[in-house]
Amino acid sequence: MPDLSLNDLDDHVRSVLEEIARLSTIDELVEREPTLLGKRSELQQLQRSLGSLELDERKTAGAAIQEARRTLEDALAKKRAVLAKDERAKALERDRLDLGDVVVTNVVLPLSTGHEGAITLTQRALEDVFVGMGFTVSEGPEVESDWYNFEALNIPPAHPARGLWDTFYVDLGSPETVLLRTHTSPTQVRLMESAVSQNALPIHSVMPGRCYRRDTPDARHLSTFHQIEGLVVDRGITFGDLAGIIETFTKAYFGPAIESRLRPGYFPFTEPSAEFEITCTICGGKGCRTCSQTGWIELGGCGMLDPAVLLAVGIDPDEWGGFAFGFGIDRCAQMRHEIGDLRALIENDARFLRQFS
Ligand code: PHE
Repeated sequence: MPDLSLNDLDDHVRSVLEEIARLSTIDELVEREPTLLGKRSELQQLQRSLGSLELDERKTAGAAIQEARRTLEDALAKKRAVLAKDERAKALERDRLDLGDVVVTNVVLPLSTGHEGAITLTQRALEDVFVGMGFTVSEGPEVESDWYNFEALNIPPAHPARGLWDTFYVDLGSPETVLLRTHTSPTQVRLMESAVSQNALPIHSVMPGRCYRRDTPDARHLSTFHQIEGLVVDRGITFGDLAGIIETFTKAYFGPAIESRLRPGYFPFTEPSAEFEITCTICGGKGCRTCSQTGWIELGGCGMLDPAVLLAVGIDPDEWGGFAFGFGIDRCAQMRHEIGDLRALIENDARFLRQFS
């Protein structure tokens, strides 16, 4: 006779369910399964003993055993799923801890963000100085027509002065009519035109931007470079105002030890014209290789607006006058940060670029 009798079936099922609930690992479950439900289980023995019963009894007993088996199989399957899930989670946890003391969620990656480059920073600083003196900031296009870059600035076609600006032409329209601007001066033409059409004179504005010339790059020249142009159109303006603005700017941007000077120069759009120089910041004016032993560095050009330029944009030169100046932003950065060779600005050497962060 089996230990288990049909009368004890419910109690048996309950106690096996409790045992299943106590199983704590898959290994344990696999080991206990044959005695709980499989070949060596009491339920199996009971089943085998049914043969000695009458047919009717056998049927009812068989159904009861079948139901008990299904309940236990169900409980075992659920337990197996729960244990498997736990063990997977534990394995993941173990793998994470295998990394030693590093807490994965708190790892700080050595990412750094970018920053503005030397030219942008210099441009901003220059704008600040001029805004402080009452100028506004304006911008114009880098691809220009011959009219804005040359003709309106009193440089007609084939004028020998065009040789001062070795020009990149753009393959658009008739030959040599569209170009990459060689200086920021076309922006002053645009500004004067729009001031005239909006009846918005006087003008006190600076115009920074990128320019292009067919120059071979060297320590002091790049074929893509930056200028900042200044334009004043007002009544009763004198050369003294121009010189005063240049000197005030020089001291404000380079500091009190640096001086400015104007030397006679030539530009077709200004009369008289001057070249604008400052004390060489590398040697403090004593003379060095950078300033070719002169103690001075040329920064740009300037002059009183030529009446022909005012007439070209429809401004009456008898009523209005003014001056313009233009100089290199790259050259300013070079002087202020003592950059020996301007080409460093375009070589993308991170060690150089990081110095401006
Ligand atoms: N546009 C001139 C240049 O690039 C500089 C300049 C600007 C001169 C304004 C006079 C007045 O050489």
